[in-house]
Amino acid sequence: MKKLWGGAFSESTADLVDRFGQTIHTDLNFWQEDIIGSVAHARMLGETGIITKEEAKIIYDGLEKIHDDGPEALRLDVEDIHTAIELRLYELVGDVAGKLHTARSRNDQVATAARLMLHNELLIVLDLIKSLQGELLVQGEKYKSAIMPGFTHQQHAQPITLGFHLMAHFWALQRHGHRAEQLFKLANYCPLGAAALAGTSFPIDRQMTSDELGFTAPIPNALDATSDRSFIMDALHVCALIMIDLSRISQELVLFSGREFGFIKLADSVTTGSSIMPQKRNPDMAELIRGRTGRVIANWVTLATVMKGLPLGYNRDTQEDKPPLFDSLGKVKDSLQLIQLQLESCEWQLDTMRDATKGDFSTATDLADYLASNGTPFREAHEMVGKVVIGCNERNITLEDLDEKSLNEICPEIPVEALSVLQPEDSVKRRESFGAPGPKAMDVQLAQAMKVFESRGFEEIV
Ligand code: ARG
Repeated sequence: MKKLWGGAFSESTADLVDRFGQTIHTDLNFWQEDIIGSVAHARMLGETGIITKEEAKIIYDGLEKIHDDGPEALRLDVEDIHTAIELRLYELVGDVAGKLHTARSRNDQVATAARLMLHNELLIVLDLIKSLQGELLVQGEKYKSAIMPGFTHQQHAQPITLGFHLMAHFWALQRHGHRAEQLFKLANYCPLGAAALAGTSFPIDRQMTSDELGFTAPIPNALDATSDRSFIMDALHVCALIMIDLSRISQELVLFSGREFGFIKLADSVTTGSSIMPQKRNPDMAELIRGRTGRVIANWVTLATVMKGLPLGYNRDTQEDKPPLFDSLGKVKDSLQLIQLQLESCEWQLDTMRDATKGDFSTATDLADYLASNGTPFREAHEMVGKVVIGCNERNITLEDLDEKSLNEICPEIPVEALSVLQPEDSVKRRESFGAPGPKAMDVQLAQAMKVFESRGFEEIV
């Protein structure tokens, strides 16, 4: 295998050693960022007079051509992307290519490319988050009055609306966008020029390369610059948090699309059939998102385990940062789109959802609230409503079917006006506290959501 080193070696490495150390296939994920880092480095070498301006121009024209030709023109029988690009540069511009690596090491080079790549990937993730939020916002508005059961302990608790439920997911995504932006800021410092671990004797200008690459500033310590991978762990953590929430949405899609609920019909385009049971329509995408969340969580643990106890200075162990990162980013990007696809194409079964609240006693709290608002201490009201629930059960009637006569028999202390709060629609309408599903509160929430949605990025969490 062709190498960028070997001067001090008299024998070549064993094939297994080459294969075990090779990263070219993973590295192709950041071939562009590697070139961009090299262009900035070459320009700086020219500007500072470390190489001549003409040499610098030959090098970055060559790099531009490599970029234009794309990764297909690179050889893959090499150790890594740095080698592939440098060898191609030799082919294109001859020996002057050898000057590109002046005052640089693959250690600062790979750390720089990784940060640039993460930056670009995060922009894609942020866009996908916004896009899914847009869908949730549209449906939040559309279904703001569609009654459904709200759950605690997975039991019917109080009636809510579908719009309210979907907007809960909107806000979770807002926090993820915010987190991703924060990690983006924290990662936006430049390792280039740190060289192998201890800088260089050449008069490089780290500020210049940092500025050219769009970083906030060069990392002040060369050893730290080449050793730090916490920005990748931050990214893996955010990926895990996003996937955890997507797995929760997925679980709802699985449950709600099943016969027991029947709340949602997923489109043919996002479901799969069974090879034996012709009637099946399986929510495989939701299940896979739920399942793959396991690996995304594990990816954080993988890198944390690699980094734990690792002494300072570049260690080859850190090469293990990239497979988990690409794996997690890939899964997050696919999953965000797949959740959106499922929601865009689904048919909510609004009547079934409304009907599910029938007879579920989920307006019992409203009855207690009504009594409490008329002066009965809430604890006492809670007791009285408990009696009403028992009375209804004995008579085999639902709470919303309760009439004056039965109410008087069960609990004469409760005024008949209280019957006006027992329908799910009334229950929702009366809950107008900030953040509640009542119509006015919901309009406030939707307006607030629209404001953060329309603002650039995710600076505002609410
Ligand atoms: N493939 C390596 C990585 O990702 C590139 C840096 C190699 N540096 C070295 N000294 N062997 O970390």
